[in-house]
Amino acid sequence: MSDKKSTNVVWHQATIDRQMRETMNGHKSAILWFTGLSGSGKSTLAHAVEDKLHKMKCRTFVLDGDNIRHGLCSDLGFSDEDRVENIRRIGEVSKLFIESGVIAMTAFISPFRADRERVRGLVMHGDFIEIYCKASLEVCEQRDVKGLYKKARAGEIKAFTGITSPYEAPENPEIIVETGADSLDKCADQVLDLLRARGILKS
Ligand code: ADX
Repeated sequence: MSDKKSTNVVWHQATIDRQMRETMNGHKSAILWFTGLSGSGKSTLAHAVEDKLHKMKCRTFVLDGDNIRHGLCSDLGFSDEDRVENIRRIGEVSKLFIESGVIAMTAFISPFRADRERVRGLVMHGDFIEIYCKASLEVCEQRDVKGLYKKARAGEIKAFTGITSPYEAPENPEIIVETGADSLDKCADQVLDLLRARGILKS
């Protein structure tokens, strides 16, 4: 998917830019990139953070792996190659959300470090906030909310993250939240504190 086929296309400069939107919104835009194993609580946490932000009248949107795979990425499976493309697309979409002035939250396993770093490189320094939802494989497997670990162990799902496909934990995330141990509310508040500390929200 790296071969560029779009030629003779010229960028149209918008008259209303990101900064104008941010000023109107009263907060900055950012990508909150939640990464972690399946069942680590990425989506749950992203939605809990969104709930708090919404109550503060912030403009937000959650892009969720399971949902996006029903539409934009429904042509992709779980091979390494497809996961790379999945994250590339989400990276580009998140970048658009940044321009739109929104705080975008993405909840994808995004197992490969290089892919997450590529998204970081797409946007300005400070725009990409990597949130490592840390929960051990044991905890995720015990929760097994969707029953997928059981299927993966039984050999019914190929290339399942943590079992038969790798997960590369972030080395230098902006924040690690202990979603395997701490309460949802505590984790969500830690994310909000970080947004204040980084000036994305007014403190
Ligand atoms: S990613 O690896 O490309 O980032 P993504 O977050 O979009 O994955 O989708 C992960 C979700 O798809 C999991 O939460 C799970 O519900 C489902 N899923 C189905 N098959 C697999 C698989 N082989 N590995 C991981 N997740 C899978």
